[in-house]
Amino acid sequence: MITEKVVRYYDRISKYYDLIDILLFKFRYTEMLDYFEFCDTALDIACGTGSMSFELAKRFEKVYGLDISRGMLNRAILKAEDEEVYFMYGTGEYLPFRDECFDAVTCILAIDLFPNPEKAITEMKRVLKHRGILVVNLLELRDGVLKKVLGKTLQSIRREFFTDLDSEKLLKILSNAKRYERRDIIGPFLSSLCNNIVFVYRKRL
Ligand SMILES: C[S@@+](CC[C@H](N)C(=O)[O-])C[C@H]1O[C@@H](n2cnc3c(N)ncnc32)[C@H](O)[C@@H]1O
Repeated sequence: MITEKVVRYYDRISKYYDLIDILLFKFRYTEMLDYFEFCDTALDIACGTGSMSFELAKRFEKVYGLDISRGMLNRAILKAEDEEVYFMYGTGEYLPFRDECFDAVTCILAIDLFPNPEKAITEMKRVLKHRGILVVNLLELRDGVLKKVLGKTLQSIRREFFTDLDSEKLLKILSNAKRYERRDIIGPFLSSLCNNIVFVYRKRL
């Protein structure tokens, strides 16, 4: 899905995103914190309405959330109030930060929407401090009855919205990342349809 289409789509659904989020994904946020220790600064790329960014704010002193949809960002800003979270417009492929300034970087449910995931991952690694942690996840349709019955339809919807990035390709791009299957994070409905693959990369010089 090309970027303008992505932006239009998320701008349009931004009003309902939190509701969809609660119904489908709610489970993932606190569990995702398992991968981090208490640290100083975090960046949540493709932060959407900020669900992960607000969770990160429980562990980190300062959190930045960046997204390409102003609609999604506006919802996040409305929720921010007194929280130490700074939301900004931008694309994951060009991060407006200097090298090595974050202890943690996250990119949740978004990397397969990026037209150039290689460039985005290079940027994520660039802004990470030495020993900083990058967490990226990807949902993949599970083999099973549903895939057999709805496979073609789901694939064509997927092609409309996402690039052809899969977990093998992402693992290669990330290089040296650990790969976990974490269905518990996405809740019973989604986990009956998809595998949730979480990649954890620690930067070493
Ligand atoms: C499924 S939502 C996930 C939002 C959030 N990470 C969450 O977990 O709720 C995907 C988000 O990726 C953002 N996005 C897509 N392509 C992007 C890009 N190239 N740069 C930054 N954000 C992007 C969309 O605007 C949208 O808010």
